[in-house]
Amino acid sequence: SNVAAVIPAAGLGRRMGSGRNKVWLSLNGEPVIGHTLRAFMAVPAVARIVLVVHADEEEIFRTYLENAWPDQAGTRIVLTTGGKERQDSVYRGLQSLEEWPEWSRAGRRLVAIHDAARALLTPQLLEASLAAGWEYGAVGVAVPVKDTIKQVDAAGYVSATPERAALRAIQTPQVFDFETILACYKRLSASGRYFSDDCGVAEACGERVKLIEGSYENLKITTPEDLWLAEAILRRRAD
Ligand code: CTP
Ligand code: MG
Repeated sequence: SNVAAVIPAAGLGRRMGSGRNKVWLSLNGEPVIGHTLRAFMAVPAVARIVLVVHADEEEIFRTYLENAWPDQAGTRIVLTTGGKERQDSVYRGLQSLEEWPEWSRAGRRLVAIHDAARALLTPQLLEASLAAGWEYGAVGVAVPVKDTIKQVDAAGYVSATPERAALRAIQTPQVFDFETILACYKRLSASGRYFSDDCGVAEACGERVKLIEGSYENLKITTPEDLWLAEAILRRRAD
């Protein structure tokens, strides 16, 4: 039991505009969260999965897990309450892991942090990220950006054009030595600074972060087009 996962699912899904947490939206007949959890359940090394949920949704998540994974709900998959920002939710997830007795007895420990909304994760990519985590201690999966990226000012004028070849779009999983990332979250939360990804937190506290090749299929369900795209990708995989 020296590998665990934290899956933040406590968002509101505002950009999806569906009026509810997007992790419940159906992707080819199964909720987004079901796809995401299945990738983790398929990797035996992952001994515990902390699913971080909004306080108002704890009951529906509990019911869902008890139906979908009756043998593992409350044991291999556990729930904890999220916070206002993604960073708050991940921090809560890490803290809840810290309180797991079996975990505190393990030697070197690795945690994979993965967005619930990134439902097309494959067990293979998860395994590759864990292997890299053991090797480097702080790892994110990422892909080369396809678009040229512009930095803009508040009035919409371009302020800079970074060289595309040096840019990567960061995804999850992001995998870390547990002690290191927990310490980083502690420090950052005390400072009141916020980051949209966990590598950002690690970088801000001086960690060297290695990126490995992710997949363009490993998209995050954020806006409605992402749902249609995800369904097309899943259908292709089923062929
Ligand atoms: N998340 C979370 N707690 C928050 C905010 C986000 O656990 N306070 C989770 C989301 O559930 C999602 C992941 O972090 O799985 C990535 O966030 P994002 O794609 O931004 O999802 P939402 O915040 O739900 O969407 P939006 O920003 O459009 O409202
Ligand atoms: Mg968000």
